[in-house]
Amino acid sequence: MFDPTHVDLPTLRKRAHNLRWATVPPGVIPLTAADPDFPCPAPVTEAITAYLTKRYFSYGPPEGLPEFRESMARFFREKRNIPTTPATVLPVDSAAFGIYITCKAFLQPGEEAILFDPVDFLFRYAVEEAQAKAITLPIPPGSAADFERIEDLITPKTRLICLCNPLNPTGKVFTKAELLTLGRLACRHNLIILSDEIWSDIVFKPHTFTSIASLAEDIRDRTVTITGFSKSYGLAGLRIGAVMTSNLRHYTRLYESSLHRSTVHGANLLSQVAATAALEECGGWLDEFVSHLHAMRDHCVDRLNAIPGFACHPPEGCYVAFVNISGTGRSAAEIRDILFDQAKVAVVPGLPEWFGPGAAGHIRLSFATSRAILDEALNRITLTIRNHVTLTPQTRNP
Ligand SMILES: Cc1ncc(COP(=O)(O)O)c(C=O)c1O
Repeated sequence: MFDPTHVDLPTLRKRAHNLRWATVPPGVIPLTAADPDFPCPAPVTEAITAYLTKRYFSYGPPEGLPEFRESMARFFREKRNIPTTPATVLPVDSAAFGIYITCKAFLQPGEEAILFDPVDFLFRYAVEEAQAKAITLPIPPGSAADFERIEDLITPKTRLICLCNPLNPTGKVFTKAELLTLGRLACRHNLIILSDEIWSDIVFKPHTFTSIASLAEDIRDRTVTITGFSKSYGLAGLRIGAVMTSNLRHYTRLYESSLHRSTVHGANLLSQVAATAALEECGGWLDEFVSHLHAMRDHCVDRLNAIPGFACHPPEGCYVAFVNISGTGRSAAEIRDILFDQAKVAVVPGLPEWFGPGAAGHIRLSFATSRAILDEALNRITLTIRNHVTLTPQTRNP
C-alpha cells in the first residue's frame, strides 16, 4: 500500500498545496508540509460516495453528526483511555481551528499562555489572535521536558498551557511522568491545558503515547483535547478535526467560540462522514501506514546522520525529521536555499515564524512518502551538501 506505485504524482501536482507538489517547480521534491504522499484509505472515499448518492446536502446539526461524535467519543475511551461521552465532543473544521477556538474561549486580551519552543507556529498564532501573550518554554530536540521550569514562567496573568504531544517539529513523545508533572502544575496554578494530539497515532515503538486527560480526574477536568485527521489518514483538504473536554462548562465555552450555532462556521458534513469511516474502518490501514513510516524514519535518520555537518535525533513520533545543520556552518535559510536551488529538494527551514527561535540551526523534512522518492531526495541532498558546503573541523560535529 505504501510502495512507489501508490504515489500518484500527476494528481499530487494538481492537488497538493501548502508548499507541496502543486506549488513547487517541476523536478523539485517537496519534503515540506507534513502531509502524506499516499492516497487516503479506500473506506473513506466509499463512505463519502455512499453519502453523495442521496443528493441531499441539508444543514446538519451545529454540534456535529451524532455518528461522528459517537465514534470520536469511543476513540477517546478505547484508544486514549479518557472517559468521554459524545455530548462533549465537538467536530471542528480542522485541528488548527480547534486550537484557535480554545485560545478564544479561555484567553482574555493581555493574559498569558505558555507554549513550547520549538513548536508548530499555530499555537503562537492562536494565542496572539486572542490578543494574549505567548510565553515560551524551551524543549530542545532530544532533551527531556523540564516542566518544573514552568513555575518560573507563571505569572498572575497565566491562563493556559499549550501541550503539543507528540511535538511537531522535534518528534518528542512526552512520558507519563512528564505529563503528570505538567498536569499537577496546571492543577496547582488553576490553568487550562490545551492538548493537541493530532500526531498521537504516529508514534514509533518502543515509545508509547499517553493522553494527559487520561491521567487523573482533576487534570482531565481542565484539559481540552484536540485531534484531527490530516496526519493519520491524509485528509488535510477535508478540514476536519475535533475538540473534546470532559467539563460541560468548558464545552459550552468552546461551542460558543466555534460560532457553529450561528452557521458562521461549522464542520462540513462530508468531512464528518469521512472522518467517521476513518475511525471505524481504517485501523488496519493506519497500522500499516505507521509500520511504513517507522521503516522510513530509521532509513531517513541513518542517511541524514551520514551527511557531513548534519545531525538528527530519531523522532519518537510524527513523520518529520528535525535535522541540526549547524555543523555545516550555514544557517537554516541558507541550507534551505542551497537544497532548493542545487538539490531540487524543498525543506522547511527552522525559522522563528515556523517553529519559534528554538528551531535555529535546524531544517525539517517530512518522510511520509515512498522509499523511492525519499531515497532520490536524500541522494540529492547528500551530493549537494558534499559539493557545495565546505566544512571546517570545528563545525563538523554539531
Ligand atoms: C501540531 C499540529 N497541530 C495542528 C496541525 C494542523 O492540523 P489540521 O490540518 O487539522 O488543521 C498540525 C499540522 O501540521 C500540527 O502539526
